[in-house]
Amino acid sequence: MHRNDPCWCGSGKKYKKCHEAFDQRIDELKFDVFKGQVRPPKKIINNAADVEAIRKAGVINDAALDLAVSMAKPGVSTGEIDKAVHDFIVSKGGYPSCLNYEGFPKSICISVNDVVCHGIPSKKTILSEGDIANIDITTTLDGYYADASRMVMIGKVSPEAEKLVRVTKECMELGIEAARPWHWLGDVGAACGAHAHENGYSVVTDLGGHGVGKDFHQEPFVPHVGKTNTGMLLVPGMIFTVEPMINAGRYNVTVDEADGWTVRTKDHSLSAQWEKTILITETGTEVLSS
Ligand code: MF3
Ligand code: CO
Ligand code: CO
Repeated sequence: MHRNDPCWCGSGKKYKKCHEAFDQRIDELKFDVFKGQVRPPKKIINNAADVEAIRKAGVINDAALDLAVSMAKPGVSTGEIDKAVHDFIVSKGGYPSCLNYEGFPKSICISVNDVVCHGIPSKKTILSEGDIANIDITTTLDGYYADASRMVMIGKVSPEAEKLVRVTKECMELGIEAARPWHWLGDVGAACGAHAHENGYSVVTDLGGHGVGKDFHQEPFVPHVGKTNTGMLLVPGMIFTVEPMINAGRYNVTVDEADGWTVRTKDHSLSAQWEKTILITETGTEVLSS
C-alpha cells in the first residue's frame, strides 16, 4: 500500500497518517507459531466510525438489559421479558439480533439454573425464588452489533448459587483486565480460567467469546481458559466479547435434542455467565456494552 493511498481501515485518511506505523509495529514482531501466536486479520480492525456505530448499538443494548433485569422477579415468565425487550429494541430503531439468527426463535436468550446459554424464552418458563438466570441480549443498529449479558438472582438464592454468580463476574472482569494492546488473547482466557479453577469451578470450552462488529460472530474465537502469550495479538481497534460460562460441577455440556439450542450442564450442576463487548484501545480497553 502506497503511503499516500487511502488507509485500508476505511477511515478515508492517508495510509501514512493512519495505520502505517501500526503495520510496521506488527511487522517488527516475531510471531511464535508454536505458541499459536497469530497476526490479527485487517478485516477485524475497526476504524473510528465503526467504533462509534458499535458504541451506539451498545447504549441501546445496555438499556435493554436494564429493562430485562428490572422485570426478572418471581412469577414472571421468560417469554414476557423477551417480548418487552423485543419491543424496546425495535422502538429505539434497533433489531434484536438473536431473532431468526440461524433459526433461533426468540429475540433474546434467558438461561436458567443448569442452562449454560442459548435458553429459549417461553411463557411456560416462570422464574421462581432461588433461581439464577443469565439474560443475554444483542442489538443490531445500522448494521453493527453489540452483545452483553448479565446474571439475575430471583429472590433469595442459596449461598452456593450466589458465590457462583459473583465468581463468574470476577472471571469476566479479570479477563477484561488482562486484555491489553500489543499483548496476547491467551492472557484473557488464562485470567478467566485461573480464577474459576481456584474457586473449584470448571470452565465451558465448547463455546466462547467472539469478535463482534459488522457480524454477530466473527474472528477471533475467545477461549475462557488458556495460556499467557499465546493466540492472536491484541491491537487497537479490535472488538470482541468476554463471556465466561462457569459451571459449579464439570465443564461438559449437552445441547437439547428437541429444540436444537438449549445448552445445559451434562451433570445438571448450576452454570453462570456474564458478558461484555470490549474495544482494545491504544492504552487498554473500553467497554462498549455491558
Ligand atoms: N448472544 C450470544 C452470544 O453471546 C449468542 C446467542 S445466539 C442465539 O454470543 F441464536 F442463541 F441467540
Ligand atoms: Co457473545
Ligand atoms: Co451474548
